[in-house]
Amino acid sequence: MDSSHVEHDLVNVLFTEEQIQQRLAEMAAEITADYEGRDLLVVGVLRGAVMVMADLSRSMPRHLEMDWMAVSSYGSGTKSSGVVRILKDLDTDISGRDVLIVDEIIDTGLTLSWLVNNLSSRSPASVEIATLLRKPEALSMPVEPKYVGWDIPNEFVVGYGLDYREKYRNLRDIGTLAPHVYS
Ligand code: PRP
Repeated sequence: MDSSHVEHDLVNVLFTEEQIQQRLAEMAAEITADYEGRDLLVVGVLRGAVMVMADLSRSMPRHLEMDWMAVSSYGSGTKSSGVVRILKDLDTDISGRDVLIVDEIIDTGLTLSWLVNNLSSRSPASVEIATLLRKPEALSMPVEPKYVGWDIPNEFVVGYGLDYREKYRNLRDIGTLAPHVYS
């Protein structure tokens, strides 16, 4: 789905498909250089990270392993809040492994702050984060991603894995959702 298919639902297009692919290629090159000579396990955080995982991993000219976690942060509406729980755990033993968590957005930081602590307790060699988007103004928990695509304003964004009530994930671009859609 292109932004033209939902243009009345969007205030603007923040990043086009082309811009996203270009930025992911730059991040992939950086990650590839940093992890040279090391085994790499990338962990995608379901469900939003599916698109980023698919494109970022295919942009890396090296072997890697992929695993997935599903977590839920209790909350409702447009803000995430509260407690995190595991809906689907890793299938991989990460003891001694170099782990790179891949997500599409850091909002309050609750999810990834919790996830880094959780995975760090399993004795990995390292745990780092790659996120396509970050909202610095919304950050309320300490999270230090090593790889960030873009910092964005604290607005409701959808597309490229990001949803509103499970819709817009298949939008190729990333756009700001119009208030009339969610108010
Ligand atoms: C999104 C996103 C991050 C999290 C970020 O997931 O994928 O994991 O929210 O928000 P936070 O920094 O405030 O914790 P969400 O819980 O919406 O689930 P989804 O990936 O299935 O859309």
